[in-house]
Amino acid sequence: MLAVEGLETFYGDSQVLFGMDLRVEAGEVVTLLGRNGMGKTTTVRSLMGLVTPRAGTIRFCGREIMGLAPFAVARAGLGLVPEGRQVFPNLTVRENLVATARPRAAADVGAPWTLARVLDLFPPLRERLRAYGDQLSGGEQQMLAIGRALMTNPRLLILDEATEGLAPLIRAEIWRTLAALKAAGLAILIIDKNVAALARLADRHTIIEKGRAVWTGTSADLSADPALSHRYLGV
Ligand SMILES: Nc1ncnc2c1ncn2[C@@H]1O[C@H](COP(=O)(O)OP(=O)(O)OP(=O)(O)O)[C@@H](O)[C@H]1O
Ligand SMILES: [Mg+2]
Repeated sequence: MLAVEGLETFYGDSQVLFGMDLRVEAGEVVTLLGRNGMGKTTTVRSLMGLVTPRAGTIRFCGREIMGLAPFAVARAGLGLVPEGRQVFPNLTVRENLVATARPRAAADVGAPWTLARVLDLFPPLRERLRAYGDQLSGGEQQMLAIGRALMTNPRLLILDEATEGLAPLIRAEIWRTLAALKAAGLAILIIDKNVAALARLADRHTIIEKGRAVWTGTSADLSADPALSHRYLGV
């Protein structure tokens, strides 16, 4: 579904990605693991067209999407829950959800995401529809950020540190939600610090070190080799 090869991404003269590779198959949950500053968010920003790589290819559903503007990438079916949530502070919950919504493409399978379905997934948001983005708790903001991404009816949902800074109960709720989305067949790419929760949820993991993928394998492979986590993740 997603095949990324040889990405080289720069901020000005400073190179961050040095030939990054990544694959996600249909229905698969894949993680991108790595220490701080290794290029996880830059990889995601490269996928979404928020920064344009100088080299490489990004094929999604059989089509080259590198170089497309962010709105066109979203229309192609990549939905991002960005690092830091980035809900629109001056829009209400309802407005946040509908502002970037995209109807489901005719070829897509499964039930489409609508406002009603997102509110069924996150009932606390129903009570807060008229509240502004900056009036929400961290947990409510995170539900809103996930709901907003789902409202684009993505074929691939990407989450960058979605449980960061949340209370344990809310965190557990987010993990349950992601497991339900996986069970419904959605492909997901996740970046998160909670390796134990990721190992339970994900099919496959890719480790990034200094802007390139250095390892990929299953949860069983990852658990079987503690030296790997120690060396590349510092855990
Ligand atoms: N807008 C920017 N301009 C210049 N350098 C940047 C910018 N954003 C990130 N960097 C640098 O690029 C490198 C990779 O950053 P990136 O945010 O991709 O890492 P990360 O793996 O997501 O880290 P973290 O786990 O802390 O979120 C870091 O050295 C960072 O300082
Ligand atoms: Mg990051």
